Amino acid sequence: MNMDELFHAAERAAEAAYAPYSHFRVGAALLGESGTVYTGCNVENRSFGLTICAERTAAVTGVSRGERRFSALAIFTPDSADPVGPCGACRQVLSEFMAGGAQVRFGGSSPERIDTTIRELYPFDSLHDLAGTASVVTARNT
Ligand code: THU
Repeated sequence: MNMDELFHAAERAAEAAYAPYSHFRVGAALLGESGTVYTGCNVENRSFGLTICAERTAAVTGVSRGERRFSALAIFTPDSADPVGPCGACRQVLSEFMAGGAQVRFGGSSPERIDTTIRELYPFDSLHDLAGTASVVTARNT
């Protein structure tokens, strides 16, 4: 499973998006360390704050099937020409189950793709980036 294949899975996942309010469909695909791919779409609600993003749908699907670590993520946003990255809430949730070096690709309807990592999207993360760094040692000593 390479990033092109994972991105194709995200493209297919976006077809199930339930987005009658924003008309902004999102598909996400997570590669589990077992090799299984878990997909998700955004699921909106008329109580807007209850909307669930595609990335968290995919993560919760994988974890509820027993997967605990994901090594790569792809996100497709067909209603945007430009690539759209995961929201802040999703970055926090994804960081629970992905290493800082895990690969992330996102893109929209144009051919442009952003290739990055969890660490770049969510730097200074308390779970896997901060332990032992100088800034944390300084903070602990003050
Ligand atoms: N959305 C996602 O599913 N993932 C993102 O990374 C960005 C935002 C959804 C939430 C909502 O249904 C719609 O896109 C507009 O914000």
